[in-house]
Amino acid sequence: MTTNSKTVTRATHDKVILPVYTPAQFVPVKGKGSRIWDQQGREYIDFAGGIAVMALGHCHPALVAALKQQGETLWYTSNIFTNEPALRLASKLIDATFAERVFFVNSGAEANEAAFKLARHYAIKRHNPYKTKIIAFYNAFHGRTLFTVSVGGQAKYADGFGPKPADIVHVPFNDLAAVKAVMDDHTCSVVLEPIQGEGGITPATPEFLKGVRELCDQHHALLVFDEVQSGMGRSGKLFTYMHYGVTPDILTTAKALDGGFPISAMLTTEEVASVMTVGVHGTTYGGNPLACAVAEAALDTINTPQVLSGVQARHERFV
Ligand SMILES: Cc1ncc(COP(=O)(O)O)c(C=O)c1O
Repeated sequence: MTTNSKTVTRATHDKVILPVYTPAQFVPVKGKGSRIWDQQGREYIDFAGGIAVMALGHCHPALVAALKQQGETLWYTSNIFTNEPALRLASKLIDATFAERVFFVNSGAEANEAAFKLARHYAIKRHNPYKTKIIAFYNAFHGRTLFTVSVGGQAKYADGFGPKPADIVHVPFNDLAAVKAVMDDHTCSVVLEPIQGEGGITPATPEFLKGVRELCDQHHALLVFDEVQSGMGRSGKLFTYMHYGVTPDILTTAKALDGGFPISAMLTTEEVASVMTVGVHGTTYGGNPLACAVAEAALDTINTPQVLSGVQARHERFV
């Protein structure tokens, strides 16, 4: 079969792409704000919004300008060099949050993979080699690598791939007694989405988040918040933890972080980051100048009182 860009249609998808998705029956070719247009020029309102990605809509002028400017300047360097957009973006994320250290990757799953590895590494380095238990939640979603899909609490995604990483326990979300029942000194971390996304939009209760924080402190376990879906202004604050007054030790962000250009980040404290040394973890594309320049423009646009209060006002209207 030969195809070229002129002849591809929705039917081509079912011949050439791995059959893991069932996309809509038309192919979008253009987007602007909340609208997309298909191959026939038909206009649609895009209620899918990139599944929590297109927080600023399609082709937002600030993001397009950043992409063009950086695209004509420096795309990629590898980690042999650092680069200005990554350093600026990390500094701004630190200024805006609890974090003191940032690690950039390319997807939500990779940010969570880094977070779970860091939580285990911290416990092993600072405490003992048996402190590896991860407490996670049914209906959670953390990505599709074998580690992240195993921490996610949905058998339909996790089963069928052979042996899973060990020492992961799932309990019902918002059930503090259930967490207490499995929490012990062998626990390295509790991992949760402050608002569960894929499992149905379920916010954590304030008592639950506060209680989990206290249990983590009592047992020297790290609290990991997956804000891949709930972060970057989508709850009306830059990150959802800011509504609760409960601060995690590690936070992951992706999706709306770049409004459609692949990037993700893991944020943490100086103390937790201090167990990582050169070569312990890494990535080829993470922190590349192009993605970081676009994310900087997205962060500058989203993290303003005007945008965040606009999200809150629309939330109230929908409710
Ligand atoms: C809460 C949460 N974590 C992680 C992920 C995985 O992100 P990605 O698909 O970019 O790997 C998702 C994706 O839907 C998500 O909603």
